[in-house]
Amino acid sequence: MRSKVAVIGAGNVGATCAFQIARHGYADIVLLDIVEGLAEGKALDMAQAAGIADAERHIIGTTDYALTAGSAVAVITSGITRKPGMSRDDLAATNAAIVTQVTREIIRYSPNCIIVVVTNPLDAMVHIALRESGLPRTRVVGQSGVLDSARMRMFIAQELDVAVEDVSALVLGGHGDTMVPVPRLCSVGGVPLQELLPPEKIEAIVQRTIHGGAEIVSLLKTGSAFYSPGVAAAEMVAAIVQDRKRILPCAVYLEGEYGINGIVVGVPVKLGRQGVEQIVELRLTDSEAAALKKSAEAVSSLIQALNARKA
Ligand code: APR
Repeated sequence: MRSKVAVIGAGNVGATCAFQIARHGYADIVLLDIVEGLAEGKALDMAQAAGIADAERHIIGTTDYALTAGSAVAVITSGITRKPGMSRDDLAATNAAIVTQVTREIIRYSPNCIIVVVTNPLDAMVHIALRESGLPRTRVVGQSGVLDSARMRMFIAQELDVAVEDVSALVLGGHGDTMVPVPRLCSVGGVPLQELLPPEKIEAIVQRTIHGGAEIVSLLKTGSAFYSPGVAAAEMVAAIVQDRKRILPCAVYLEGEYGINGIVVGVPVKLGRQGVEQIVELRLTDSEAAALKKSAEAVSSLIQALNARKA
């Protein structure tokens, strides 16, 4: 049976994600935005490209959640991007309100869906979607590590002048300045990265990965990255609707795994038809584990700040 996927937010990330899903024919798509005409217009444009791009033409745009009913997966990309003068906490508070409202609507019409969150600040928004949806933690997952690892893979491929498909990279932790790239577990065609590059080159790649999003924001000036986040979210959708059981780093609510309890943070998971089918617990070195813990603490502080604002 064909799956249905709702993509909420027809902005840069949502539209890119929807078109990637359409181009691969992963599912029928309902693209939804609060702005009248925006999702309808983009969906119509994408459907008209289908014949040329060999894509799925079953894509509709709407402002009406009733049309999302029965979705297997809902991708949340709705939100605002950071404006000049806006603090991280202001952004978090605005997007928290949007994600709260959107999650309630999604669940009303697709009570058994799997939610893939993309809106930033990512880990905190996964917390909110989890709380508002009432879904088990296996069905609410955030897109962070797929993108951060893809950035790291690209930087490694560029440095070594090799095909990016042969590069494997892993980034754990929160989707922000405290993320934890793990060079020890990166490889190229099976060869450990640490045998291919000197420590200073690896450290430069780690730093560029951590600041990968900011680098793009500083170039674009009025927006943030969207091709890679949109495609990364579509990859997670494919893993779910095609039951591919991919091992991907995703933001999930931990309950003791990695010694972290009650916090959403990025770790490798097995992603399939049931959502997070397994949390893969890697053995980390002391310094990697400490960095992951620090990253989880940063997520926890942001959630506390959000809760304090709400109270
Ligand atoms: N319901 C539905 N759509 C909404 C709502 C809402 N309550 N509030 C905002 N939107 C829509 C906007 O109308 C807009 O079309 O969300 C869309 C956001 O699109 P962009 O502004 O283009 O932002 P984008 O670059 O897509 O980023 C979206 O993803 O990667 C993250 O940090 C990024 O949090 C941001 C999100």
